[in-house]
Amino acid sequence: MNIVKAKDYHDMSRKAANMISAQIILKPACVLGLATGSSPIGTYEELIKRYQDGDLDFSQVTTVNLDEYRGLPRENDQSYYYFMNEHLFQKVNIDASRTFLPDGMEADHEAACKKYDGIIRSVGGVDLQLLGLGHNGHIGFNEPGNVFEKGTHCVDLSERTIQANTRFFASEKDVPRQAYTMGIQTIMAADKILLVVSGEDKAEIVKAAFFGDVTPQIPASVLQLHRNVTVIADEAALSKCEGML
Ligand code: GLP
Repeated sequence: MNIVKAKDYHDMSRKAANMISAQIILKPACVLGLATGSSPIGTYEELIKRYQDGDLDFSQVTTVNLDEYRGLPRENDQSYYYFMNEHLFQKVNIDASRTFLPDGMEADHEAACKKYDGIIRSVGGVDLQLLGLGHNGHIGFNEPGNVFEKGTHCVDLSERTIQANTRFFASEKDVPRQAYTMGIQTIMAADKILLVVSGEDKAEIVKAAFFGDVTPQIPASVLQLHRNVTVIADEAALSKCEGML
C-alpha cells in the first residue's frame, strides 16, 4: 500500500488527478471506477481543468460508479447520477452512454444488483478505481459488518452514514435508508485503486483502516491486501499516523 502525504485538500485533489490523468493518457479506452461524496469533488475539478486545457480526452473512457441510493430518481439532485453529471460528466467530452451507475429506481433489488454486476463484467472490469472513505471505514456503501460482501448488493445504511449524509438533504427523514453498492470483491478486482481522504475527522479511521487489522468491521481495511493501492491523504487525515509512514 502506497501512502502519499498531501499538504491539504487541494494538494490531495491535484495528486489524485495526476494519477487519473496518467491512466487516461496511457490507456484512452480505460474503465474508471468512480466515487461520490465531498472527497473526490476537487479531483473532478482538476480533471475538468485538464480537459479544458486540452490535456485530457475522455471520449473513449468508460465509467462505473460505486453506488447509488435506492429509491431516488435520477433527476433528484441528491442522486449520485445527478452528482456525477453535475461534477464531471457534463463538463468533459465523455460519451454519456458509457457512464454507468446502479439503477436506484429498479423495484426488484436482486435484479438491480445482477444487472449492475453484468455491466461491470461486460465493460471488462475496472482499470482504476477511485474511492473515498466513510467515517466508519465504509467504501462505496459497504458498511461495517460480519463479512465482506462480494458483488453488488442492497445495503441498509448505518445510522452514522445517515447522519453524515443528512447535510445534503432538507432533513434527516429525507435521507434514503438503503443504497446499492459495488461489493468488496468487485472493488478488489480493480487493477489499481486510488483512495482520497482529507480532514482531521478522518484521522482515526485512516489509522485503523490502513495500520490496523483487516476486518469486515472496517471495510476499507481489506485494501491492505490489494497489490496496487495508492492512498492520497492530507496532513490532517494522517495526523494520527505519525511515525507509521
Ligand atoms: C458516502 C459515499 C462514499 C463516500 C463516503 C465519504 O456515503 N457512499 O462513497 O466515500 O460517504 O464521503 P465524504 O467524502 O463526503 O466524506
